[in-house]
Amino acid sequence: MQWQQLKVQIHPDHLDFIEPQLLAAGAVSITYLDAEDQPIFQIELSSTPLWDSLVLCALFEEEVELDPLLKWLRGNDAIVNRDALAVETIADQAWERSWMDSFEAMQFGDKLWICPSWQEPPDPSATNIMLDPGLAFGSGSHATTALCLQWLGATDLVGRRVVDYGCGSGILAIAAALLGAETIDAIDNDPQAVLATDDNCARNGLAIDRVASYLPEQFDADDRSGQVDILLANILAEPLHTLAPKFASLVRPGGDLVLSGLLADQAADITARYSEWFDMSAPEQREDWIRLTGVRR
Ligand SMILES: C[S@@+](CC[C@H](N)C(=O)[O-])C[C@H]1O[C@@H](n2cnc3c(N)ncnc32)[C@H](O)[C@@H]1O
Repeated sequence: MQWQQLKVQIHPDHLDFIEPQLLAAGAVSITYLDAEDQPIFQIELSSTPLWDSLVLCALFEEEVELDPLLKWLRGNDAIVNRDALAVETIADQAWERSWMDSFEAMQFGDKLWICPSWQEPPDPSATNIMLDPGLAFGSGSHATTALCLQWLGATDLVGRRVVDYGCGSGILAIAAALLGAETIDAIDNDPQAVLATDDNCARNGLAIDRVASYLPEQFDADDRSGQVDILLANILAEPLHTLAPKFASLVRPGGDLVLSGLLADQAADITARYSEWFDMSAPEQREDWIRLTGVRR
């Protein structure tokens, strides 16, 4: 069996008008794609922001007659790519498995691997985190996560107490635990991330007394005993700026700070902010992103 695919570029204001027409014409799925390359940062929880220029990728069974729909779209001012509208033929495949092809085991430093559950770890003697992509951020493929994993892979974590602030999938907390950290507090303001962290910890055989996950208010209310040796936060510049005093109070003198989620041009501002409490080092860059590290005075 084959499928017919039609990509229709619109402004998001026209979504409620165009999408029902595609469904009425027989579309069995419609995927929203970014027509340009516009990152959407810091979304509100439970909101579904759209890009300024949107492509609707509609899939139809092969026998559906698409000429009337194409004629209607080509005559409609709401369609941006009217002249380029064309139906593509897509061969059938095992759709429920095809997304797996783009995920492969990834190595960080000498001893740390992130492996999808459907692959054998390439180096069984290494520290292998079994992690499948899910709803929460943190599969290892993003530069900001990679910068933190590299730091963890190159650091002696045995017996250290760690905070992972903005834990997402729990990838950094799990890496720290498997590399020998004694306890890890994993915090995220997205309840989905807290659930994902618990789930991924269980998959990696980590009990709650090693990695405890919290919403920020639960973490603040918990009776914490003492400061930690290492605080990792891969969030974004704005929350990192706001959270600086809190992070300073969480890290013991001599303890390490690792910040990521920052673009290169944000390094100076965040370095200045954290220099009030930490001796900051020069940024480490990967693609457009940087990692900042510091030692608590
Ligand atoms: C870029 S992801 C990082 C996930 C993972 N730690 C990694 O390195 O891949 C940032 C995470 O921080 C969380 N986050 C953002 N702002 C936060 C805040 N103010 N407090 C707690 N978590 C926050 C987001 O929900 C998201 O899961």
